[in-house]
Amino acid sequence: MILIDGKKAAAELREELKLEVSELKTKYNKVPGLTVILIGDMTPSQIYVRNKEKSANEVGLKSEVIKYPDTVEEKTVLEKIEELNKDETVSGILVQLPLPKHIDKQKVIEAILPSKDVDGFHPMNVGNLSSGYESSIPCTPLGCYLLIKKIEPNLSGKKAVVVGRSNLNGKPMTQLLLKENCTVTITHSRTKDLKAECLEADIIVAAVGIPELVKSDWVKKDAIVIDVGINKTDNGIVGDVAFNEVSKVAKALTPVPGGVGPMTIACLLKNTIECFKRSQI
Ligand code: GUN
Repeated sequence: MILIDGKKAAAELREELKLEVSELKTKYNKVPGLTVILIGDMTPSQIYVRNKEKSANEVGLKSEVIKYPDTVEEKTVLEKIEELNKDETVSGILVQLPLPKHIDKQKVIEAILPSKDVDGFHPMNVGNLSSGYESSIPCTPLGCYLLIKKIEPNLSGKKAVVVGRSNLNGKPMTQLLLKENCTVTITHSRTKDLKAECLEADIIVAAVGIPELVKSDWVKKDAIVIDVGINKTDNGIVGDVAFNEVSKVAKALTPVPGGVGPMTIACLLKNTIECFKRSQI
């Protein structure tokens, strides 16, 4: 079984990006900039944002974090986004989710210029991705995709099953696999026989948020299994895949932690650089 080392893959990607940033600096005499807006003091979000800032600095991006208390008015956030949209030194804008209840998430997402939307959440980018046009691609599915391609460069005709239909993961993941000519089944909590669907798969991407849902008797021998889940349990953090048992049947499997997670942040940096490059044309 291949244990897919996301930490190593992310470090390699960051090295490539670091080189690219230094080349862009020589060419344009400026570097891509990432601005993250963090609202409130939810601990996981704070940790994510700190890691994003650290990684951005590591590859040589200009990085800024704007923090607001969770009582901030929606208007203040929208005005700040407007200001960042106009700021030429800002290539990418990310508003860390989740947001406090009094702030309309969709309004915030749609306020970000599509060309600076490093999350790929703006409807324009969602539409472009599903139409097969150039777009920002949500960081977690992009990270999963790059890990899958490292194991299996030619995905044409493979049967992929995506478990979970969120806008963040399941739906964009489906689009990326379709683009690679996979036959994709998107499954969710109302799917009649999830086990039977998974058993058909050459590739399983589990992004449903149910601890250790995918068992070894759900997985075809030699399938590639990507675990997007981060679930807090009494036994610590576990994924959506029962790691120990599935590792006995899968060809390749991501661990949790150390699989998809590190790739998500590296892909955010990649997206920031892509936004910068498109803005220079
Ligand atoms: N919160 C958890 N994951 C994400 C993400 O990918 N983007 C944003 N903006 N917030 C998140």
